[in-house]
Amino acid sequence: MLLLIKNADIYAPEPGGQCDLLIGGGVILGMEPNIRVPRKYCEVIDARNLKALPGFIDGHVHIMGGGGEGGFATRTPDLPLTDAIKGGVTTVVGCLGTDGQTRSMAGLLAKAKGLEEEGISTFVYSGSYGLPLRTLMPSLEEDLLFIDKVIGAGEVALSDHRSSQPTFEAFAQVVAMARRGGLLSGKAGIVNVHLGDGPRGLEFLRCILTETELSAAQMLPTHINRNPGLFEEGIAYAKAGGFVDFTTSTLPAYLEDGEIPCAEALRRMLEAGVDPGQITFTSDGQGSLPDWDRNGRLRGISVGRVTSLFPAVRQAVLEEGIPLQTALRVITQNPARILKLRRKGCLAPGMDADIVLVDPHDFEIRTVIAKGCLLMKAGRMQTKGMFE
Ligand SMILES: [Fe+2]
Repeated sequence: MLLLIKNADIYAPEPGGQCDLLIGGGVILGMEPNIRVPRKYCEVIDARNLKALPGFIDGHVHIMGGGGEGGFATRTPDLPLTDAIKGGVTTVVGCLGTDGQTRSMAGLLAKAKGLEEEGISTFVYSGSYGLPLRTLMPSLEEDLLFIDKVIGAGEVALSDHRSSQPTFEAFAQVVAMARRGGLLSGKAGIVNVHLGDGPRGLEFLRCILTETELSAAQMLPTHINRNPGLFEEGIAYAKAGGFVDFTTSTLPAYLEDGEIPCAEALRRMLEAGVDPGQITFTSDGQGSLPDWDRNGRLRGISVGRVTSLFPAVRQAVLEEGIPLQTALRVITQNPARILKLRRKGCLAPGMDADIVLVDPHDFEIRTVIAKGCLLMKAGRMQTKGMFE
């Protein structure tokens, strides 16, 4: 059965005017005004007065849960499919974080395959916070070569008390392995780098550019909005050609401590002259959000949500005055290009049919289509995870 979306206001993410979208076999077959197909061959969705956006890409999600940092009881749960649907997230990149011991690459890959069976597109990073990397195959290059879903390494922690305190040489070797594996497999081969609050900040990443033959295209540092100092470093790093990723899941306590809201961070980067193509947002979904008091005691803990991703873009448009087509890029076109997800991130014939229809006034998500299948229709869920 074909799907025909009529009269949508296209943001591909570039504005494309009012068009119809014909979908079949999981891909966009046509995108032009007045597509005509006999009704018996297709389901028609009237999208007049709605904006059609590319399905959102969330490039940093703890899909199998993360290590709580307050003992076993704080280990976080895995990603429910419905959270992805509610958030318009049609592609996720799964990763392990602090806990690379009770969570494994095998489990991460199994969860990614499960979500793929349930309807969304999934990829994974190999490894976790610590070095040396614990990969599934004997090396990162082999993970990239022989496991389709592996697109890079991460999240490798730097400048953080929870990192493995790797030497620069150990970090550079991982970036080099990612480079080689990426070249051989035709994938991004990128290292997703967790930055903590430590004073070394982006030092190792800058050294990669000055001390080695490797390029900034091999690294995607995340949590760049976590404190004002790291954010300022991030501006300089992005202006030198690096990518920067901001985390949308947050707590009021983090913002009080100096974390910069993603929408504001995007505006300030653009005002500073950073190329909008260098910036991405990710949710850190299902990661733990520990709330420590001044004495380092855990006051409480909550869980990051993939549903925080699009509201940050909405806030950038409605409160920071950033054009929709610019703000939208940070969760569509940019991650698709940076992570080399070739059929993702924009609306065009031949691309995967991952589409989100939103209300033009409040930007509420109305309809979600992933790989050509309706997961949410006019605000109503059409499917759910196996055990939801
Ligand atoms: Fe992280």
